[in-house]
Amino acid sequence: MRHLIDFGDLRREEWDELYARASEIIDDPGRFIDVCRGKVMASLFYEPSTRTNFSFQTAMLRLGGSVFGFADPKSSSAAKGESLKDTIKMVSGYADVIVMRTPWEGAAKAASLYSNVPVVNAGDGGHMHPTQTTADLTTMTRLLGRVDGLSIGLCGDLKNGRTVHSLIKAMEKFRGVRFFLISPRELAVPEYMRAFMRENHLPYTEVTGLEAVIPQLDVLYMTRIQRERFVDPLEYERCKGIYVLTRRKLDRAKERMLVMHPLPRVDEIAVDVDDDPRAVYFDQARYGMFARMALLADLANQPRLDRTEAVEIGTKPVCHNPRCITQTEHYLPPLVKKNGGVDCCAFCDGALG
Ligand code: NCD
Repeated sequence: MRHLIDFGDLRREEWDELYARASEIIDDPGRFIDVCRGKVMASLFYEPSTRTNFSFQTAMLRLGGSVFGFADPKSSSAAKGESLKDTIKMVSGYADVIVMRTPWEGAAKAASLYSNVPVVNAGDGGHMHPTQTTADLTTMTRLLGRVDGLSIGLCGDLKNGRTVHSLIKAMEKFRGVRFFLISPRELAVPEYMRAFMRENHLPYTEVTGLEAVIPQLDVLYMTRIQRERFVDPLEYERCKGIYVLTRRKLDRAKERMLVMHPLPRVDEIAVDVDDDPRAVYFDQARYGMFARMALLADLANQPRLDRTEAVEIGTKPVCHNPRCITQTEHYLPPLVKKNGGVDCCAFCDGALG
Protein backbone atom coordinates (compact mmCIF):
# COMPACT_ATOMS: atom_id res chain seq x y z
CA MET A 1 0.00 0.00 0.00
CA ARG A 2 1.35 3.41 -0.96
CA HIS A 3 -1.61 5.64 -0.02
CA LEU A 4 -4.78 5.04 1.99
CA ILE A 5 -7.52 6.83 0.05
CA ASP A 6 -10.24 4.20 0.05
CA PHE A 7 -10.47 0.98 2.06
CA GLY A 8 -10.27 -0.86 -1.27
CA ASP A 9 -6.57 0.18 -1.37
CA LEU A 10 -5.90 -2.45 1.29
CA ARG A 11 -5.79 -6.14 0.55
CA ARG A 12 -7.13 -8.49 3.23
CA GLU A 13 -3.60 -9.65 4.13
CA GLU A 14 -2.53 -6.02 4.49
CA TRP A 15 -5.43 -5.35 6.83
CA ASP A 16 -4.52 -8.48 8.87
CA GLU A 17 -0.94 -7.19 9.16
CA LEU A 18 -2.12 -3.73 10.14
CA TYR A 19 -4.43 -5.17 12.78
CA ALA A 20 -1.67 -7.43 14.11
CA ARG A 21 0.57 -4.38 14.51
CA ALA A 22 -2.22 -2.31 16.10
CA SER A 23 -2.81 -5.13 18.55
CA GLU A 24 0.88 -5.30 19.48
CA ILE A 25 0.86 -1.54 20.05
CA ILE A 26 -2.25 -1.78 22.27
CA ASP A 27 -0.59 -4.52 24.34
CA ASP A 28 2.79 -2.81 24.70
CA PRO A 29 2.89 0.80 23.40
CA GLY A 30 6.32 1.43 24.96
CA ARG A 31 7.99 -0.77 22.33
CA PHE A 32 7.00 1.64 19.56
CA ILE A 33 8.18 5.00 20.87
CA ASP A 34 11.02 5.32 18.32
CA VAL A 35 9.40 3.81 15.26
CA CYS A 36 8.89 7.21 13.56
CA ARG A 37 11.80 9.08 15.19
CA GLY A 38 12.90 11.86 12.79
CA LYS A 39 9.79 11.52 10.61
CA VAL A 40 7.37 14.38 10.03
CA MET A 41 3.62 14.21 9.40
CA ALA A 42 1.74 17.01 7.62
CA SER A 43 -1.80 17.41 8.86
CA LEU A 44 -3.97 19.36 6.41
CA PHE A 45 -7.48 19.79 7.85
CA TYR A 46 -9.71 21.88 5.59
CA GLU A 47 -12.75 20.85 7.64
CA PRO A 48 -13.48 20.74 11.41
CA SER A 49 -12.30 17.71 13.35
CA THR A 50 -11.49 16.85 16.92
CA ARG A 51 -10.98 13.09 17.16
CA THR A 52 -9.42 12.37 13.81
CA ASN A 53 -7.06 15.31 13.97
CA PHE A 54 -6.04 14.67 17.60
CA SER A 55 -5.75 10.93 17.16
CA PHE A 56 -3.44 11.30 14.15
CA GLN A 57 -1.35 13.86 15.99
CA THR A 58 -1.07 11.80 19.17
CA ALA A 59 -0.41 8.67 17.10
CA MET A 60 2.59 10.34 15.43
CA LEU A 61 3.87 11.82 18.69
CA ARG A 62 3.61 8.44 20.44
CA LEU A 63 5.77 6.94 17.67
CA GLY A 64 8.44 9.56 18.28
CA GLY A 65 7.66 11.61 15.14
CA SER A 66 6.60 15.22 14.76
CA VAL A 67 3.64 17.01 13.25
CA PHE A 68 2.92 20.28 11.45
CA GLY A 69 -0.09 21.60 9.58
CA PHE A 70 -3.33 23.52 9.98
CA ALA A 71 -6.77 22.81 11.33
CA ASP A 72 -8.33 25.89 9.79
CA PRO A 73 -7.97 26.37 6.03
CA LYS A 74 -8.23 30.16 6.49
CA SER A 75 -4.67 29.97 7.79
CA SER A 76 -3.41 28.16 4.65
CA SER A 77 -2.64 29.38 1.13
CA ALA A 78 -5.89 27.86 -0.09
CA ALA A 79 -7.40 31.10 1.21
CA LYS A 80 -5.17 32.96 -1.31
CA GLY A 81 -6.42 30.78 -4.15
CA GLU A 82 -3.61 28.21 -4.29
CA SER A 83 -4.56 25.00 -6.12
CA LEU A 84 -4.62 21.68 -4.28
CA LYS A 85 -1.91 20.41 -6.62
CA ASP A 86 0.50 23.21 -5.68
CA THR A 87 -0.19 22.85 -1.96
CA ILE A 88 0.51 19.11 -2.16
CA LYS A 89 3.65 19.51 -4.30
CA MET A 90 5.04 21.90 -1.73
CA VAL A 91 3.95 20.04 1.43
CA SER A 92 5.21 16.71 0.10
CA GLY A 93 8.62 18.36 -0.10
CA TYR A 94 8.53 18.99 3.66
CA ALA A 95 6.79 15.92 5.09
CA ASP A 96 7.16 12.12 5.12
CA VAL A 97 3.42 11.50 5.13
CA ILE A 98 0.38 13.71 4.47
CA VAL A 99 -2.92 13.33 6.33
CA MET A 100 -5.76 15.38 4.90
CA ARG A 101 -9.44 16.09 5.50
CA THR A 102 -11.51 18.12 3.07
CA PRO A 103 -15.13 18.96 2.31
CA TRP A 104 -14.44 18.07 -1.38
CA GLU A 105 -15.06 14.48 -2.42
CA GLY A 106 -12.11 12.82 -4.13
CA ALA A 107 -9.58 15.39 -2.86
CA ALA A 108 -7.27 12.85 -1.24
CA LYS A 109 -7.26 10.81 -4.44
CA ALA A 110 -6.40 14.00 -6.35
CA ALA A 111 -3.58 14.79 -3.90
CA SER A 112 -2.12 11.30 -4.27
CA LEU A 113 -1.48 11.95 -7.98
CA TYR A 114 0.97 14.74 -7.18
CA SER A 115 2.50 13.72 -3.86
CA ASN A 116 6.03 12.40 -3.42
CA VAL A 117 5.02 10.88 -0.08
CA PRO A 118 2.06 8.72 1.07
CA VAL A 119 -1.32 10.45 1.39
CA VAL A 120 -3.93 9.39 3.93
CA ASN A 121 -7.59 10.30 3.46
CA ALA A 122 -8.89 11.48 6.82
CA GLY A 123 -12.34 12.18 5.35
CA ASP A 124 -13.34 13.64 1.95
CA GLY A 125 -16.77 15.25 2.12
CA GLY A 126 -19.59 12.72 2.38
CA HIS A 127 -17.54 10.15 0.46
CA MET A 128 -15.00 8.04 2.40
CA HIS A 129 -13.16 7.89 5.72
CA PRO A 130 -10.98 4.76 5.64
CA THR A 131 -8.98 5.39 8.82
CA GLN A 132 -12.21 5.54 10.83
CA THR A 133 -12.78 2.06 9.42
CA THR A 134 -9.43 0.91 10.80
CA ALA A 135 -10.70 2.11 14.21
CA ASP A 136 -14.03 0.33 13.71
CA LEU A 137 -12.52 -2.99 12.62
CA THR A 138 -9.97 -2.89 15.43
CA THR A 139 -12.80 -2.35 17.92
CA MET A 140 -14.89 -5.23 16.57
CA THR A 141 -11.95 -7.62 16.41
CA ARG A 142 -10.63 -6.77 19.88
CA LEU A 143 -14.04 -6.90 21.55
CA LEU A 144 -15.87 -9.62 19.61
CA GLY A 145 -12.87 -11.64 18.41
CA ARG A 146 -13.90 -11.49 14.75
CA VAL A 147 -15.52 -9.52 11.96
CA ASP A 148 -16.53 -12.52 9.80
CA GLY A 149 -20.16 -13.50 10.20
CA LEU A 150 -21.33 -10.36 12.03
CA SER A 151 -24.76 -8.80 11.53
CA ILE A 152 -24.17 -5.07 11.48
CA GLY A 153 -26.85 -2.38 11.77
CA LEU A 154 -25.86 0.99 10.28
CA CYS A 155 -28.24 3.64 11.52
CA GLY A 156 -28.75 7.34 10.72
CA ASP A 157 -27.48 9.41 7.82
CA LEU A 158 -26.31 6.71 5.43
CA LYS A 159 -26.36 9.07 2.48
CA ASN A 160 -23.82 11.57 3.75
CA GLY A 161 -22.04 9.50 6.40
CA ARG A 162 -18.58 8.78 5.00
CA THR A 163 -17.70 6.45 7.91
CA VAL A 164 -20.58 4.21 6.83
CA HIS A 165 -19.43 4.13 3.21
CA SER A 166 -15.89 3.13 4.16
CA LEU A 167 -17.12 0.47 6.57
CA ILE A 168 -19.33 -1.09 3.89
CA LYS A 169 -16.38 -1.03 1.49
CA ALA A 170 -14.21 -2.89 4.01
CA MET A 171 -16.68 -5.72 4.53
CA GLU A 172 -16.05 -7.18 1.10
CA LYS A 173 -12.79 -8.45 2.63
CA PHE A 174 -14.60 -10.52 5.28
CA ARG A 175 -16.92 -13.49 5.10
CA GLY A 176 -20.58 -13.78 6.00
CA VAL A 177 -21.17 -10.15 7.02
CA ARG A 178 -24.78 -8.98 6.72
CA PHE A 179 -26.01 -5.38 6.86
CA PHE A 180 -29.19 -3.81 8.15
CA LEU A 181 -29.30 -0.29 6.71
CA ILE A 182 -31.53 1.80 8.97
CA SER A 183 -32.33 5.28 7.68
CA PRO A 184 -35.16 7.49 6.48
CA ARG A 185 -35.65 7.02 2.74
CA GLU A 186 -34.16 10.43 1.94
CA LEU A 187 -30.94 9.54 3.80
CA ALA A 188 -30.45 6.03 2.36
CA VAL A 189 -27.03 4.90 1.05
CA PRO A 190 -25.97 6.35 -2.34
CA GLU A 191 -26.54 4.20 -5.40
CA TYR A 192 -22.80 3.56 -5.87
CA MET A 193 -22.76 1.87 -2.46
CA ARG A 194 -25.73 -0.35 -3.38
CA ALA A 195 -23.95 -1.29 -6.60
CA PHE A 196 -20.85 -2.15 -4.55
CA MET A 197 -22.81 -4.41 -2.18
CA ARG A 198 -24.55 -6.18 -5.05
CA GLU A 199 -21.32 -6.68 -6.97
CA ASN A 200 -19.56 -8.09 -3.91
CA HIS A 201 -22.46 -10.27 -2.73
CA LEU A 202 -22.85 -8.42 0.57
CA PRO A 203 -26.41 -9.10 1.75
CA TYR A 204 -28.26 -6.00 2.97
CA THR A 205 -31.75 -5.11 4.13
CA GLU A 206 -32.91 -1.48 4.02
CA VAL A 207 -35.38 -0.51 6.75
CA THR A 208 -36.66 2.73 8.28
CA GLY A 209 -37.25 1.49 11.84
CA LEU A 210 -34.52 0.73 14.38
CA GLU A 211 -36.45 -1.16 17.04
CA ALA A 212 -37.66 -4.07 14.91
CA VAL A 213 -34.13 -5.10 13.84
CA ILE A 214 -32.20 -4.48 17.09
CA PRO A 215 -32.54 -8.07 18.41
CA GLN A 216 -30.76 -9.46 15.34
CA LEU A 217 -27.63 -7.30 15.54
CA ASP A 218 -24.09 -8.05 16.73
CA VAL A 219 -23.06 -4.43 16.15
CA LEU A 220 -25.23 -1.32 16.09
CA TYR A 221 -23.29 1.50 14.40
CA MET A 222 -25.07 4.78 15.11
CA THR A 223 -24.26 7.93 13.13
CA ARG A 224 -25.06 11.62 13.33
CA ILE A 225 -27.30 13.34 10.79
CA GLN A 226 -24.61 15.25 8.84
CA ARG A 227 -26.01 18.77 9.07
CA GLU A 228 -23.14 20.40 7.13
CA ARG A 229 -23.91 18.31 4.01
CA PHE A 230 -27.54 19.43 3.65
CA VAL A 231 -28.23 21.92 0.90
CA ASP A 232 -31.73 22.58 2.26
CA PRO A 233 -31.81 23.46 6.01
CA LEU A 234 -35.50 22.48 6.17
CA GLU A 235 -34.64 18.97 5.10
CA TYR A 236 -32.17 18.78 8.00
CA GLU A 237 -34.90 19.95 10.39
CA ARG A 238 -37.16 17.15 9.11
CA CYS A 239 -34.51 14.46 9.60
CA LYS A 240 -32.83 15.48 12.86
CA GLY A 241 -33.70 13.56 16.00
CA ILE A 242 -35.25 10.77 13.97
CA TYR A 243 -33.30 7.98 15.72
CA VAL A 244 -32.49 8.08 19.40
CA LEU A 245 -31.02 5.00 21.02
CA THR A 246 -32.11 4.76 24.66
CA ARG A 247 -31.36 2.31 27.42
CA ARG A 248 -34.92 1.00 27.12
CA LYS A 249 -34.46 0.17 23.42
CA LEU A 250 -31.29 -1.71 24.30
CA ASP A 251 -33.31 -4.13 26.46
CA ARG A 252 -34.18 -6.09 23.33
CA ALA A 253 -30.60 -6.21 22.01
CA LYS A 254 -28.20 -9.15 22.38
CA GLU A 255 -26.27 -9.19 25.62
CA ARG A 256 -22.94 -8.82 23.79
CA MET A 257 -24.02 -6.45 21.01
CA LEU A 258 -21.62 -3.52 20.54
CA VAL A 259 -23.01 0.00 20.32
CA MET A 260 -20.53 1.91 18.17
CA HIS A 261 -20.44 5.50 16.91
CA PRO A 262 -17.62 7.36 15.09
CA LEU A 263 -18.50 10.45 17.21
CA PRO A 264 -19.28 13.29 17.58
CA ARG A 265 -22.71 12.36 18.89
CA VAL A 266 -25.49 14.93 18.80
CA ASP A 267 -28.68 13.37 20.18
CA GLU A 268 -28.80 9.94 18.52
CA ILE A 269 -27.56 8.10 21.64
CA ALA A 270 -29.10 9.08 24.97
CA VAL A 271 -26.55 9.79 27.70
CA ASP A 272 -27.92 6.96 29.86
CA VAL A 273 -26.60 4.45 27.30
CA ASP A 274 -23.00 5.47 28.09
CA ASP A 275 -22.87 3.33 31.23
CA ASP A 276 -24.20 0.20 29.54
CA PRO A 277 -21.29 -2.23 29.04
CA ARG A 278 -22.32 -2.59 25.39
CA ALA A 279 -21.57 1.10 24.69
CA VAL A 280 -18.02 1.10 23.32
CA TYR A 281 -17.78 4.38 21.38
CA PHE A 282 -15.17 5.97 23.63
CA ASP A 283 -13.05 2.80 23.49
CA GLN A 284 -13.52 2.88 19.72
CA ALA A 285 -12.01 6.41 19.61
CA ARG A 286 -9.00 5.18 21.61
CA TYR A 287 -8.56 2.10 19.41
CA GLY A 288 -8.57 4.55 16.50
CA MET A 289 -5.38 6.14 17.79
CA PHE A 290 -3.64 2.73 17.97
CA ALA A 291 -4.85 1.77 14.50
CA ARG A 292 -3.47 5.08 13.18
CA MET A 293 -0.15 4.39 14.92
CA ALA A 294 0.04 1.07 13.06
CA LEU A 295 -0.73 2.83 9.77
CA LEU A 296 1.78 5.68 10.26
CA ALA A 297 4.52 3.28 11.35
CA ASP A 298 4.25 1.80 7.87
CA LEU A 299 3.53 4.84 5.67
CA ALA A 300 5.86 7.42 7.26
CA ASN A 301 8.76 5.01 6.84
CA GLN A 302 8.27 4.44 3.13
CA PRO A 303 10.98 5.83 0.83
CA ARG A 304 9.99 9.12 -0.80
CA LEU A 305 9.63 9.26 -4.57
CA ASP A 306 12.01 11.76 -6.17
CA ARG A 307 9.61 12.38 -9.00
CA THR A 308 5.93 11.65 -9.51
CA GLU A 309 4.69 10.45 -12.90
CA ALA A 310 3.42 13.02 -15.41
CA VAL A 311 -0.33 13.37 -15.01
CA GLU A 312 -2.67 14.13 -17.91
CA ILE A 313 -4.03 17.68 -17.73
CA GLY A 314 -7.81 17.96 -17.72
CA THR A 315 -9.96 20.93 -18.66
CA LYS A 316 -13.35 20.40 -17.01
CA PRO A 317 -15.16 18.54 -14.18
CA VAL A 318 -15.22 14.75 -14.54
CA CYS A 319 -18.75 14.30 -13.12
CA HIS A 320 -21.91 16.15 -12.06
CA ASN A 321 -21.44 15.81 -8.30
CA PRO A 322 -21.31 19.44 -7.04
CA ARG A 323 -19.04 18.35 -4.16
CA CYS A 324 -16.49 16.57 -6.36
CA ILE A 325 -12.96 17.98 -6.29
CA THR A 326 -12.96 18.10 -10.11
CA GLN A 327 -15.61 20.86 -9.98
CA THR A 328 -13.03 23.36 -8.77
CA GLU A 329 -9.67 21.84 -9.81
CA HIS A 330 -10.17 21.60 -13.56
CA TYR A 331 -6.61 20.52 -14.33
CA LEU A 332 -7.32 17.08 -12.79
CA PRO A 333 -7.19 14.21 -15.31
CA PRO A 334 -10.52 12.78 -16.58
CA LEU A 335 -10.25 9.51 -14.67
CA VAL A 336 -13.16 7.08 -14.93
CA LYS A 337 -13.73 3.72 -13.24
CA LYS A 338 -16.42 1.04 -13.21
CA ASN A 339 -18.75 0.57 -10.24
CA GLY A 340 -21.16 -2.34 -10.61
CA GLY A 341 -20.64 -2.17 -14.39
CA VAL A 342 -21.47 1.57 -14.55
CA ASP A 343 -18.98 4.33 -15.49
CA CYS A 344 -18.17 6.53 -12.47
CA CYS A 345 -15.87 9.40 -11.60
CA ALA A 346 -12.66 7.87 -10.22
CA PHE A 347 -12.36 10.70 -7.68
CA CYS A 348 -15.78 10.79 -5.98
CA ASP A 349 -17.56 7.67 -7.37
CA GLY A 350 -20.31 9.89 -8.84
CA ALA A 351 -22.16 8.29 -11.76
CA LEU A 352 -21.38 9.72 -15.21
CA GLY A 353 -23.86 10.48 -17.95
C1 NCD B 1 -16.90 11.34 11.60
C2 NCD B 1 -16.54 12.17 10.38
O1 NCD B 1 -15.86 13.17 10.49
O2 NCD B 1 -16.97 11.75 9.31
N1 NCD B 1 -16.18 11.69 12.74
C3 NCD B 1 -14.93 11.18 12.92
O3 NCD B 1 -14.10 11.21 12.07
N2 NCD B 1 -14.70 10.60 14.10
C4 NCD B 1 -18.34 11.27 11.84
C5 NCD B 1 -19.13 12.55 11.94
O4 NCD B 1 -18.60 13.65 11.83
O5 NCD B 1 -20.34 12.42 12.15
